[in-house]
Amino acid sequence: MREQLKRFIQQMEPNSIAIIPAAHEQTRSYDTEFKFRQDSDFWYLTGFPEPDAIAVIDPENKKAPYTLYVRPRDPLMETWFGRRQGVEGAVKNYKADKAFSIEKFEGDLPKLLDGHDKLYYRFSLDKELDEKILDYLHPQRVRRLKTAYPPHTFIDPTIILGEMRLHKTPEEVEHMQTAGTIAAEAHILAMKKVKPGMNEGQVEALMEAYMKDKGASGVAYNSIVGGGANATILHYVENNAPLKDGDLILIDAGAEYKGYASDITRTFPVNGKFTAAQREVYDVVLDVQEKCIEYTKTGNTVKGRQEYSIELLTEGMVKLGLLKGKTKDLIKKKAYLKYYMHGVGHYLGLDVHDAGRYFTDQQARNSKPFAPGMVLTVEPGIYVPPDDKTAPAKYRGIGVRIEDDVLVTEDGNRNLTSKVPKEAEEIEAIMASKSRK
Ligand code: GLY
Ligand code: MN
Ligand code: MN
Repeated sequence: MREQLKRFIQQMEPNSIAIIPAAHEQTRSYDTEFKFRQDSDFWYLTGFPEPDAIAVIDPENKKAPYTLYVRPRDPLMETWFGRRQGVEGAVKNYKADKAFSIEKFEGDLPKLLDGHDKLYYRFSLDKELDEKILDYLHPQRVRRLKTAYPPHTFIDPTIILGEMRLHKTPEEVEHMQTAGTIAAEAHILAMKKVKPGMNEGQVEALMEAYMKDKGASGVAYNSIVGGGANATILHYVENNAPLKDGDLILIDAGAEYKGYASDITRTFPVNGKFTAAQREVYDVVLDVQEKCIEYTKTGNTVKGRQEYSIELLTEGMVKLGLLKGKTKDLIKKKAYLKYYMHGVGHYLGLDVHDAGRYFTDQQARNSKPFAPGMVLTVEPGIYVPPDDKTAPAKYRGIGVRIEDDVLVTEDGNRNLTSKVPKEAEEIEAIMASKSRK
């Protein structure tokens, strides 16, 4: 049994059972599907890569606490759509104590659930499976517990899984370091190759090809490659405009390795040399980013870090002349939102915006302190809309974000994506080097 699954079982309530579904394939158009991506919780617990499976975890069943329901072997389907592990593979290769065909699942529900006090299941994500569980419950309810004993308490398994996933094991850190390094190298490649006249899509393509070439399964999210004012659109994913001499390019692209994400942003000049105005905005953001990385250490909190980033960026905006007034008042009025409208970072792991709560308690909303094993992004930015009449003209249309992935350690932190430079001079040096020609 996988270590994660063992630890999950240890945290389950007495006399409970868990149903954890895999993801399904999603239609892209007509009869073609998007590339399959496994559900992160399911992947974390089972490592089973196929769609349409269900893990049933029943710690009271001492002989077989872990059952997988999977797609059955089927020569015709496998010829058309790919190999399947089948029930034999689920036991032999994925260490399930028992495995059955997924077609049996619905019929097995009464015997699986009856007699358990509590069910761990995340209602509302998989409507079809919700239906099946409700269809099981309905007649049980009608029988008013005279003969049936359905679970009476339903618990979202992500309460346990989110907390587990938040604290990375050494093996997970290793995968995340690999994801970080591959993406960092892809960003360096972009710095070497970008030049005026190239299309954003070409930059995207060469980075993604590099990531796959180095063993990544692909990107961890849709890459953002925006030249000029496109950099001021936070989730710009069209990536199809030509890159202009004199503009900046903002690239937010990360690799996925063994399911784990990296998430890097770099902003640099298309022609290899920052203008004075670009450099002014850039250096403000870089300074804030470095200070916020420093801040990301044991004991400090997510909320504290957000406030710190707001304070530093507001100061920077005043210095640049984007905002006028006292920093304190501007923070109170949230004036910074005009140019900095997102969080300074997020948990990172199997999901790019990873699982885990940001509060220690939902009522008081006390922010969670950083602890060793957590991985967070640090990604401040300043985005000046091109039509912002109140901003100095030289800054209009400039968007800068700088993003790294940071592992909190016992004595500080480790930057998993430090391989890709971010000092303006270093970037200019790479862009001026022979390898660029
Ligand atoms: N790439 C998504 C993010 O930075 O959060
Ligand atoms: Mn990002
Ligand atoms: Mn991010």
